[in-house]
Amino acid sequence: MTHPFKADLFKDKTMFITGGSSGINLGIAEKYGQLGANVVIMARNPDKIDKAVALLKSQGSEAMGISCDVRDYDGVEAALKKAFDHYGELQTVIAGAAGNFLSPIVGLTSKGFQTVIDIDLMGTFNVFRASYDYLAKPGASLIAITARQAIHPRPFQAHACAAKAGVNMLCKCLALEWGQAGIRVNAISPGPIDDTEGFRRLVPTEEKVEAMKREIPLKSIGTKSDIANMATYLASEASEYCTGGIFNVDGGNELGNANYDFLTPFART
Ligand code: HXC
Ligand code: NAP
Repeated sequence: MTHPFKADLFKDKTMFITGGSSGINLGIAEKYGQLGANVVIMARNPDKIDKAVALLKSQGSEAMGISCDVRDYDGVEAALKKAFDHYGELQTVIAGAAGNFLSPIVGLTSKGFQTVIDIDLMGTFNVFRASYDYLAKPGASLIAITARQAIHPRPFQAHACAAKAGVNMLCKCLALEWGQAGIRVNAISPGPIDDTEGFRRLVPTEEKVEAMKREIPLKSIGTKSDIANMATYLASEASEYCTGGIFNVDGGNELGNANYDFLTPFART
């Protein structure tokens, strides 16, 4: 993981990350820890949390893990308080926990749809709302992890599209109301990111990976480090005038399908 940031950028800062036990969010936790932050990760599976905390500590980071479901508001509040009591005010809260799967709408029960809304959208509300009393004010940075599905309808992802659309709007409303308290609220919209559960669920075969690359303007799959770099920018003072933004880190994926090979024979060179 190379980066252009100073090694003590986040010294004495505390970062609270839901879904921090794996994938993209663990990549952010690693980067924050390497930049001197106290890192608190919250997710459900205690074994996964223990492994992630051990990894962070092996990298020399100060880290704490808490097992809690983002759908449990009181539990989330208690987790934030625990982090605050241990480390002091929170500089950054990342709402990164999500649960998604591919399903046609006729394969979705009401509970299936609600499960994804509850984890992705309600979970983001719960952690941001409950964090208010524990944030550094002014100066805190809240960051949601959204997805392109928030603005592009996708087949078999109605539940995720609806949830992430809600996440984007929630971030904008929070930015509007909490700006006066000196709290910034932004979202990162990752493109397909290699070596993650989300990527495995949405792009399950090598053939589909190659097709996906052809669709992306920059012709490659993103890395966890790409997202961690944006999360570092948004947590730092370098972004102090940014709020209410949705920051794409997606190789241009949101622009649409860049696979125009079929047009090449007709194009004047
Ligand atoms: C249809 C399904 C389903 C599927 C679950 N359900 N999987 N319906 N197709 N493949 C339904 C179940 O039948 C049930 O409804 C309801 O959802 C709740 O299922 P549970 O298994 O009880 O839920 P829970 O244990 O809370 O698990 C949540 C989960 C699970 C989302 C289903 O996959 C999970 O924990 N995921 C976390 C990891 C993850 O998804 N990572 C990827 C994030 S990627 P009924 O009515 O039958 O009881 C990502 C990137 C892409 O977000 C962005 C946009 C797609
Ligand atoms: P991941 O590794 O599956 O990460 C999900 C994390 O959330 C895990 O730590 C998981 O741990 C936790 N989690 C899930 N449900 C939870 C709940 N109810 N309460 C608390 N924690 C919960 O997935 P990922 O692919 O890295 O995705 C991370 C984020 O990036 C998500 O917001 C996703 O929507 C977004 N994203 C990913 C991609 C991609 O290509 N991967 C693209 C666009 C957006 P437990 O299961 O132990 O709780």
